[in-house]
Amino acid sequence: MSTETHFQETKNIPRHVAVIMDGNGRWAQAQGEDRLFGHSNGVDSVRETLKCAREFGIKFLTLYAFSTENWARPKTEIDGLMQLLVASIHNEIDELQANGVRLKTIGDVERLPKDCIESLKEAIETTKNNQEITLVLALNYSSRDEIIRACNRLAEKVKTGLLTPGDIQQKDLENVLDTANIPDPELLIRTSGEYRVSNFLLWQLAYAEMHFTQVFWPEFRREHFIEAILDFQSRERRFGKTSDQIS
Ligand code: FPP
Repeated sequence: MSTETHFQETKNIPRHVAVIMDGNGRWAQAQGEDRLFGHSNGVDSVRETLKCAREFGIKFLTLYAFSTENWARPKTEIDGLMQLLVASIHNEIDELQANGVRLKTIGDVERLPKDCIESLKEAIETTKNNQEITLVLALNYSSRDEIIRACNRLAEKVKTGLLTPGDIQQKDLENVLDTANIPDPELLIRTSGEYRVSNFLLWQLAYAEMHFTQVFWPEFRREHFIEAILDFQSRERRFGKTSDQIS
């Protein structure tokens, strides 16, 4: 049985898949190209992954596109990434709209360049009623930064009497994270043979299955995505219970 046939027969599809798109720079440099060449080829992988995710009935796809730590990269690379983001939104917006894709962001986006903020705001507004799939771009994102911003929001609520110290529940924190109203990812994919979480969705990945592949992000295609889903489907998700309890 081919991977494709096997995949289509199964029903256990994760609701939310998160991806650490890694290896753009190494992929480009291995060919004697500039790192930005890797990032712009990475956009093809984004397009293909989104298409597959939508086709397979996945409802949320979160992509780690720019971390708070990425500001430490050379200015030319940062500028190139920001331009690529604006150009990609411009090029893809009709396709997103036609395919029922709702765009969202997580991260401290107000610190991005003005033209990025404007493009993102416009695309988010245009696609806000779409229901097929939500594409979440993590931009100027890191999990510890998100949690600190959330703590400050909780502190404000305590100050104004909306919350009582000693009575704060998990839900209260979840409601003030950037991911409020987004279900936790059930599957995390990281490309390029790195085995780290790199400050990505630390709270939300508590029960996620992890899939690591050697493939560099610009080479990530449908077959690799299916491999990740099959890997997810082969796992027994126990959520702290015993195997007998869940069977
Ligand atoms: C990691 O590879 C990738 C990034 C930091 C940026 C990802 C951006 C894109 C794929 C393009 C824009 C995205 C959208 C959503 C339009 P790396 O540069 O860290 O690779 P390396 O580890 O080989 O250096």
